[in-house]
Amino acid sequence: MATLTITPGRPLRGTITVPGDKSITHRALIFSALAEGVGTVARYCRGEDCLNTMRAFQSLGVQIQETPDELTVHGKGLWGLTEPTRVIDCGNSGTGIRLLAGLLAGQDFFSVLTGDASIRRRPMGRIVKPLREMGAVIAGRKGGELAPLAVTGTTLRGIAYSSPVASAQIKSSLLLAALFAKGTTTFVEPRLSRDHTERLFQFYGLPLARRGTTITVEGRPAVGWQAVSRLTVPGDLSAAAFFIVGATIVPGSDVTIQHVGVNPTRIGLLEVMKHMGADIQLLNRRDEAGEPVADVRVKSAALRGVTIGPELIPQTIDEFPVLCVAAAVAEGRTVISGAEELRVKESDRIATMAAELQQMGARITERPDGMLIEGLGHPKENGRLQSRRGHSHGDHRVAMSLAIGGLTTSTPMTIDDTDCIDTSFPGFDQRLTTLTDGGQS
Ligand code: S3P
Repeated sequence: MATLTITPGRPLRGTITVPGDKSITHRALIFSALAEGVGTVARYCRGEDCLNTMRAFQSLGVQIQETPDELTVHGKGLWGLTEPTRVIDCGNSGTGIRLLAGLLAGQDFFSVLTGDASIRRRPMGRIVKPLREMGAVIAGRKGGELAPLAVTGTTLRGIAYSSPVASAQIKSSLLLAALFAKGTTTFVEPRLSRDHTERLFQFYGLPLARRGTTITVEGRPAVGWQAVSRLTVPGDLSAAAFFIVGATIVPGSDVTIQHVGVNPTRIGLLEVMKHMGADIQLLNRRDEAGEPVADVRVKSAALRGVTIGPELIPQTIDEFPVLCVAAAVAEGRTVISGAEELRVKESDRIATMAAELQQMGARITERPDGMLIEGLGHPKENGRLQSRRGHSHGDHRVAMSLAIGGLTTSTPMTIDDTDCIDTSFPGFDQRLTTLTDGGQS
């Protein structure tokens, strides 16, 4: 099992890029596989999660060539996927399994989806239930609540569905099923979750109407869509987040992260950090593949506690582990509420972050739907955590967040079981070293 040792004490300085956005890479693969013709997906995320989705499409009959910089996808058209001869393994990826379940429900073949131990613990009923309302035939453990999921493709019908949870995975699963369904599907969510799927529908010219949190899709479009010769994936804000927090809490830091996706449904971290006193600038704003992109410059700053309520949760959802680190070293109290979804991520992130940071000296109280953090802040600068052996709990974002916490300790800190970082961010430790060495990558 890999470990990661962090040497504290040096500011983060320099210019880096981060891997392509994981959420957009999954979706770019899906839309390219269903397109007519050959397209490329550039600057994609080479994390294991996305590579598993790539392999899934290969097993569904789609030819995909892979280089470190781009994927070349030989699209099969809307109805061109073929029955896989083996079980599809989505690894650690909730996005992979949930989006594929929606997509496969309306095919004319049988498929089985599974994943690692974490995926086999995570709730699938949230997609299985509405997909069954569309006519899907899906079996799984505990009545379809848990993977593996066996999907007997069938003719689906459009439904009106109001999701109890603001989740882009539920929304995208249903919108993909809706593409293959007869009639109209209307999806409503309680708050707007990340909208990459909707943007790709529009980018490829597919009929999709949006009004607030209501989305309508007409199934079975008469004409498909053409592959695009080069779809460039923006850098992942959820990967940049570690350096944004790191540069803020380590005095003397000044970091620029180039080409980062700044979709409004994803930038809760930037808003929360600015409220806490962070010095973050968005430079060179532009658009790519229907997504806003910018270079993010961050300089160190003293942080103060903040209150984060339910309205900010969806756009911040993956950044809570590293936000906990920021709050732990800030001056004053941070309260997070309405964040119960954190309990069903790659790990129970309320429990894992509270346990790990408590043993590093942070003052955190778990609550069912969030936590209360009394920052260790010092009147002059951000407080310090204590170096302890950290554990990732098999969760990539917990591993990287603890690494960032380790930058504030007074002696080196080792984190165990860090292979999981590769699910989203191969090369994380090299990027961190580049910055603590003050250089360029
Ligand atoms: C994702 C949606 C979010 C997020 C996950 C990626 C996506 O999950 O936490 O990392 O790509 O759609 P939920 O939609 O379940 O909140």
